[in-house]
Amino acid sequence: MKRVEMHNLSIAFEDEGEGNPVVMIHGYPLNRQIWRSQWERLADSARIIAPDLRNHGETTLHRKNKLNETIHNMELLADDIAQLLDALSISSPVVVNGLSMGGYAAFAFYRMYPDRVRGLILTATRARSDSEGEKENRIKAINIAQVQGVGAIVDSMLPRLLSPKTIKHKPDLVATIRQIMLSSSVEGVVGDLRGMMVRLDSIPHLSRIQIPVLILAGKDDQIIPMDEAQAMHDLIPDSRLEIIDDAGHLLNMEQPKMYNRIVREFIVSLE
Ligand code: MLT
Repeated sequence: MKRVEMHNLSIAFEDEGEGNPVVMIHGYPLNRQIWRSQWERLADSARIIAPDLRNHGETTLHRKNKLNETIHNMELLADDIAQLLDALSISSPVVVNGLSMGGYAAFAFYRMYPDRVRGLILTATRARSDSEGEKENRIKAINIAQVQGVGAIVDSMLPRLLSPKTIKHKPDLVATIRQIMLSSSVEGVVGDLRGMMVRLDSIPHLSRIQIPVLILAGKDDQIIPMDEAQAMHDLIPDSRLEIIDDAGHLLNMEQPKMYNRIVREFIVSLE
């Protein structure tokens, strides 16, 4: 693990391999550890940079915000990534890979810094913003996290995160994911939920994306169904869609070999 100190943020991140940088942005309520199979096995093809987002994993704020003021807008997360790249003196365009909420942040990053992106990988994510019903569910989840703690969020979310086959046959992986989720702070969970709730609709931007895009989805994803991936593929001009069998929302962990093979091919094709 490496660390850079910024104005109000101490960012923890992995930085493995050499060559073209690929920034991997984790989802909710997770941290950089979800990308272990990527930084361990793709570092021979690219420089994998996987940060913990603010209030997640080992990334901390120097001055904590009050909980009722904590909100992780996707633009704020994108700015944190830009600052990390600045601190690493990376000014040439990078590949950005976002999983779920990380994908929402990747859209914001591309909107704000189009010249800093040479390719996008959209993993288990969607372009549209929240429906009214989804916003209500976020508010309920914020209350649950504050009153009952992060464990209650994990208990309700974990069974829907993974494919039935993963749950049945990979108990060690399920335990690892549970641990990653349980290590989330209430600030992290609440900040993400508030930020996701107000995120912009990225659908109007899809047809204007001018770089190659790889869209990956797990066939058994119950959090973001596969048709959202198809919808992005239909609208993004230079996009490729890959659906992975026996994988749910965390397809990069559930089927790392297949996932890495497809991602490697995409990264190499951009060289
Ligand atoms: C995620 O996995 O990052 C979130 O579940 C996405 C969401 O809730 O919209």
